Amino acid sequence: MHARNPQATQTLKMVVPPRQSGLPQPLLEVRNVSLDFGDATRSVRATHQVSFDVHRGDRFVLLGPSGCGKSSLLKAVAGFIAPSEGEILLGGAPVTQPGPDRVVVFQEFDQLPPWKTVRQNVMFPLVASGRLSRREAGERALHWLEKVGLARFADAYPHTLSGGMKQRVAIARALAMQPEVLLMDEPFAALDALTRRRMQEELQALWEELRFTLLFVTHSIEEALVVGNRILLLSPHPGRVRAEINSHQFDLRSAGSAEFQRSAQRIHHLLFESQPDETPRPEPALQRSAAS
Ligand SMILES: Nc1ncnc2c1ncn2[C@@H]1O[C@H](COP(=O)(O)OP(=O)(O)OP(=O)(O)O)[C@@H](O)[C@H]1O
Ligand SMILES: [Mg+2]
Repeated sequence: MHARNPQATQTLKMVVPPRQSGLPQPLLEVRNVSLDFGDATRSVRATHQVSFDVHRGDRFVLLGPSGCGKSSLLKAVAGFIAPSEGEILLGGAPVTQPGPDRVVVFQEFDQLPPWKTVRQNVMFPLVASGRLSRREAGERALHWLEKVGLARFADAYPHTLSGGMKQRVAIARALAMQPEVLLMDEPFAALDALTRRRMQEELQALWEELRFTLLFVTHSIEEALVVGNRILLLSPHPGRVRAEINSHQFDLRSAGSAEFQRSAQRIHHLLFESQPDETPRPEPALQRSAAS
């Protein structure tokens, strides 16, 4: 992985076009980000000069085929890996390391330490980050476990829970931190279809109530349309921006509608059938619709 180089990002700042006046500052700005893995002898480019903005309250989805760099982008936003070119800004400040303002929910069911109870799992980052005392963290953990319907299981150990329940705990743990951005990497991909749908519904209900900012990775077109209000389409390896789509009008109730099917087909075409030279650049005319 390339080492962080603050000077390199400073230089690149100059090639970024200035923001149009009158638009609110995005919460998260990803500017011309290329991500490379490897060493001096062999390097793999995961994404190439990807740019997008996420505004407060957005449910922003990164959508693209396997290997297009979705997880790598999420890890870069989380601060786990550094861009080899470009920069990532959160609230105007460069992201240089992981922080409690960005919490990730992964796909894997084993993201909960098995030796801690459900409640201890939710408490842990609150206490470890020094945000709350153990007593306060315990109370806050219970509050968030109630929100995801798992208060009864507060004293259970993760191995006694179903996959869906484990993901609910991971979501409760993440939301309890009250991050600036909740990062989710295919959090429902390993669940059966019915549970996946229920989890999408629950996430939607939580968002309706709390209006948190979400950056969500999936390779499912339907899931992107249901979960997101904005969708960034990425080309196959290395990931480049194909287009940005507004999808605030869809939810689980509209999933079977003709308009939904048309949008799904359009996305499929953009992802898999359009030629590379037809593509890049998000359309500047697209409106932000965080409150939709
Ligand atoms: N730690 C790593 N070391 C080397 N190469 C990596 C590493 N992580 C990712 N890559 C490469 O970067 C590219 C993008 O990987 P990434 O996991 O970000 O894709 P993805 O879009 O999340 O795919 P999927 O949908 O399968 O999860 C791939 O070619 C992958 O092999
Ligand atoms: Mg991935």
